[in-house]
Amino acid sequence: MTEILDGKKLRDKIFAGLKTKLDRMSEKPTLAVILAGNDPASQIYVRNKKKTAENLGINSIVIEYPADVTETELLAKISELNNDKKISAILVQLPLPKQIDKFRIIDAILPQKDVDGLTPYNLGKLFAGEQPYVYPCTPKGILLLLDEYGINPAEKHVVVIGRSNLVGKPVAQMLLQRNATVTMCHSHTTNLPDITKTADIVVSAVGKNIIGEKMLKSNCVVVDVGIYRDETGKVRGDVDFEGVSNIAAYISPVPGGVGPMTIASLMLNTVELFERNKQSL
Ligand code: GUN
Repeated sequence: MTEILDGKKLRDKIFAGLKTKLDRMSEKPTLAVILAGNDPASQIYVRNKKKTAENLGINSIVIEYPADVTETELLAKISELNNDKKISAILVQLPLPKQIDKFRIIDAILPQKDVDGLTPYNLGKLFAGEQPYVYPCTPKGILLLLDEYGINPAEKHVVVIGRSNLVGKPVAQMLLQRNATVTMCHSHTTNLPDITKTADIVVSAVGKNIIGEKMLKSNCVVVDVGIYRDETGKVRGDVDFEGVSNIAAYISPVPGGVGPMTIASLMLNTVELFERNKQSL
């Protein structure tokens, strides 16, 4: 029987712990989110982040800009948030409008307030095997989910599909640090099924339905990071859930797997930055 990696259940457990902690704090963290443009998915994600933060007792502000915002305006806002002692954590929702150089914007965030762990300082620390201020949210959520089910990546062959800065690259580094043997695959990998068939754990972050049961070995673990709507409007992941359920030992569903863990990690990171910044900023 395939076991479900239940992200909602673990998220609720994490939130219960965070709520108790936040209820005891006299001063609360504040998460600032910058949303530029009118990407419908981003608008939903940002609304969820704000609502979730507020339900837990984390203050949250959302600063919205039209699609024709300039880099200068965004950089000025980030500088203001960096210098504002009341702001604990800053998140710039991606993707940004096409005229904006996302690297310039992310680079401007103070690493101590970089709640996504995406600045060169934090990613550099992670890639050097040192401790960043916080770990990127989705990779952190994936590792928390594996840990919750007693799945230890050490000595396992983990195949990561997708090489984004948000998910693929950082999760591969975090798995390396946990002594996994990691293979990175991406859109130019020519023999994907040959590689995935040797995987003990597959982490797929593509956004297309690409993983079927014939690509996997028995009793593997499948972590589905993809999320998109198919032509009928149904929310789907990268994995053919029904087929893969015949073969995998564990599988994370979409929705209800990695998605809730990303938001749980965002809340954990916000509180971690708040506590550290109180002592040092
Ligand atoms: N867009 C999609 N996922 C994310 C995320 O985790 N962080 C940011 N900043 N933007 C995103």
